[in-house]
Amino acid sequence: MTEASIPQRIIIGCDHAAYRLKETLKTALQKQGIAVTDVGTYSEAAMDYPETGRAVAQKISSGDFDRGILICGTGLGMSMVANKYPHVRAALCNDLFSAAMSRRHNNANILVMGGRVIGDGLALEILKAWLETPFEGGRHQRRLDRFDTI
Ligand code: RB5
Repeated sequence: MTEASIPQRIIIGCDHAAYRLKETLKTALQKQGIAVTDVGTYSEAAMDYPETGRAVAQKISSGDFDRGILICGTGLGMSMVANKYPHVRAALCNDLFSAAMSRRHNNANILVMGGRVIGDGLALEILKAWLETPFEGGRHQRRLDRFDTI
């Protein structure tokens, strides 16, 4: 099975370190007609990333949303939080190759980036690749199915 279509709605969350990048990504998504649910944070005031990480991961885990984005300073904390949830496949992608492969082979349902690691231009390119690259299915689906036995 392959998933080729661009998602029509996305849930996004960040911490203070990536607030500005979140606003940039949100604007870009909305310009493409993608509905964005923003769970915060809503300013550069310091906050704890597990709060917004949890908010996005829960909605992906429950199936309320198919795709999400989480960004913090490095992307590391958000990845760790999100991947604690069943059915979440959060991929930290600070480069284009990882972004495409996270879709092709891993069917990643949350894109994670580090706002202090990459610039806005690269983040937008990574987002585009992640949105547009389909899952290849086949042997990769068989491998993902094994996640449920762990
Ligand atoms: C916040 O200072 C920083 O720790 C956070 O944004 C993130 O990088 C954690 O993994």
